[in-house]
Amino acid sequence: MTDVNEMIRLVQDHLSQAGIDSPQAEAATIVSHILGVSRGRLGVLRALGEQLDAEAVEQITELAKARATRTPLQYLIGTSAFYGLEVKVAPGVFIPRVETEVLVETTLQHFASHPGPLKILDLCTGTGTIAAALADQLQQRNILTDLWAVDISAQAAELAGENTAQHNVTVLCADATDHHSVIAAAPELSPLRAQFDAVVSNPPYIPTTTPVTQYEAEQDPERALYGGSADGTAIPLRIAEQAAGWLAPGGFFMMEHDHTHAQQLVAALAADPAWEQVQTVNDLTGAQRFVTAIRTPSAKPTPKSSPTLAQ
Ligand SMILES: C[S@@+](CC[C@H](N)C(=O)[O-])C[C@H]1O[C@@H](n2cnc3c(N)ncnc32)[C@H](O)[C@@H]1O
Repeated sequence: MTDVNEMIRLVQDHLSQAGIDSPQAEAATIVSHILGVSRGRLGVLRALGEQLDAEAVEQITELAKARATRTPLQYLIGTSAFYGLEVKVAPGVFIPRVETEVLVETTLQHFASHPGPLKILDLCTGTGTIAAALADQLQQRNILTDLWAVDISAQAAELAGENTAQHNVTVLCADATDHHSVIAAAPELSPLRAQFDAVVSNPPYIPTTTPVTQYEAEQDPERALYGGSADGTAIPLRIAEQAAGWLAPGGFFMMEHDHTHAQQLVAALAADPAWEQVQTVNDLTGAQRFVTAIRTPSAKPTPKSSPTLAQ
């Protein structure tokens, strides 16, 4: 028998030696996953000095060894925690990041006193994590919500479908930078142009000039990471343009971006008559990582040439 606290310490040391960034948090995740308990319940077991049987010790040790090879923990356990939900993840689909919770939180705050119903579009949905979190939270507030989520990857769209299955979310596989592609995937969206209350997006945005170097991040598909140009703003700018076309007057837009993009994106949206109240939102470390804007009542979005990315 091994004490749960001792086990967590051993796993933490092992992960630390393997160069894992957050060994303490990941050790707790590994142990709670194998024991099948929440992190809160794990805290109780730690306080009680719970003894682990040999089978649990062996399973925890195996999982810790696998993680020490730098395979992302989310792939090993098949889920990722996001805004109080456990979303399914799989190799080939972007692993949700905790910073994106700010996008969910800010969107919910924006609609805090809205009675609903709401129409929300999540462009570049990946595992569907933003759509699932918004749907879950708005459902808890009894706000009727019609959610649509789009990703260009068939594998991502399938996973997003599973992650949002209990909610009123329609997932489409289409090029979010081209509304013709989106409407081809769901013709019933055609009358919903200029009708959405919110468009949210965490698109690919990393500059191709500064490729990711962390091993775990390198496991994400390239199409989920890079923003389509040297500075990484090509896809984000196209998403903003598309958002202007989907939103109703007064509609809310929020998009995550690279920390180097804030000034450029704010300037681009502020210069476009389609937008007003353009603002930057910081992540939890204080970095400028999101842009928000309100669709102006009458202006048409400034048309730009938007090459289709769908195959
Ligand atoms: C950074 S990931 C974000 C995923 C998810 N929104 C999240 O926050 O976890 C970007 C996603 O955009 C998708 N994507 C890339 N280009 C796209 C496009 N042109 N249209 C739709 N989705 C696209 C990728 O497949 C990937 O799932």
